[in-house]
Amino acid sequence: MKRVLSTLAVALGCAAAQAQPAAPLKIGFISTMSGPSAILGQDTLDGFNLGMQSVGGTLGGRTVELVLGDDQLKPDVARQLADKMVERDRVEFITGTIWSNVLLAIAKPVLDAGVFLVSPNAGPSQLAGAQCHPQFFATGFQNDTPNEAMGIYMQKKGYTNVYLMAPNYPAGRDMLAGFKRYFKGNVSAEVYTTLGQLDYAAELAQLRAKKPSSLYFFISGGPGMNFVKQYAQAGLSKDVPMFAPSFSIDQTAIPAIGDAAVGATVSTFWSPDLDSALNRKFVADFEAKYKRTPSPYAAQAFDTARIIDAALKASGGTKDKAAFRKAMENVKFDSVRGNFKFAPNHFPIQDFYLAEVVKNDKGQVLWKTRELITRDHADSYVSRCSMPQ
Ligand code: PHB
Repeated sequence: MKRVLSTLAVALGCAAAQAQPAAPLKIGFISTMSGPSAILGQDTLDGFNLGMQSVGGTLGGRTVELVLGDDQLKPDVARQLADKMVERDRVEFITGTIWSNVLLAIAKPVLDAGVFLVSPNAGPSQLAGAQCHPQFFATGFQNDTPNEAMGIYMQKKGYTNVYLMAPNYPAGRDMLAGFKRYFKGNVSAEVYTTLGQLDYAAELAQLRAKKPSSLYFFISGGPGMNFVKQYAQAGLSKDVPMFAPSFSIDQTAIPAIGDAAVGATVSTFWSPDLDSALNRKFVADFEAKYKRTPSPYAAQAFDTARIIDAALKASGGTKDKAAFRKAMENVKFDSVRGNFKFAPNHFPIQDFYLAEVVKNDKGQVLWKTRELITRDHADSYVSRCSMPQ
């Protein structure tokens, strides 16, 4: 009798447990939501939410509780947010990171705590190489790679006397290293600015004095918008054409820059005009919902939600960390970019295109994709990563 009763209790307990809806999936979203670059965090958040909506409003079949944190582009603020999300909120994932210095400040504590860290944008070389980690995935790009693509293009076209500029912080250094990995022509100067700098008068005077044939620069967010406007105001655009990785002159920046962006050339892994049914739907849905054109920040965040969803469905959750990690490594999902897969260091292997900033006959300033530069492009740090199996 005793045994029967306890069996019954177990059975009833199971039925009660089955009737309980699964607990919400808690995701910490640390991004830059204030200051001159707040639009980058907003585009990332909007893209992520739309990605979630595209798979039914849940991830892996669970409702999602996003725990939002504004890092203010400050590594120490991000570290406090990450500690709180790990210890108090008990999140299963952290995502949203835009900046490599911010990501590098939170990576170790988050990963040491056994939380999955999925960066939709920042892709520093450190985490692609010696510091690669089973629970870290970059879903946007490795920092060097869009610049490698432009290096390949400008090398092929025989450009020389190119002036290089980027902020002096981990991503800025990766970006220019990536460009120089494939561009072997003459570099007129390699100038490092301060991250967050808004006035470029001194740099523009220096640049003019060097008489370069072209400029290759990475400056994103509010500072990038200012830089391109000041460049045009200084009358440099005609004589010294601009080349950049996508984020220096993208859809978050073009509305603020306007005509001064026209004529620039960018390298990118995604563009609003990439021709696939999924991408057309993504762009149309984003424009309808948020009343602006999505940028690569939004596109990669859209993919990030879809990657997490597909991996959760394949593994059944994150409880078995090794199983979830394997599901991420082998994830099958439709990307707005087209080809996408993870390299052994958990960074994307993807295609890069060349796009020109043009003004169409309706007077809109937008990207026009011109050609594929490199297909299935992997970063150059894979061999330095000995990923624990
Ligand atoms: C970075 O810090 O890794 C970073 C920031 C903004 C970008 C691209 C990369 O647009």
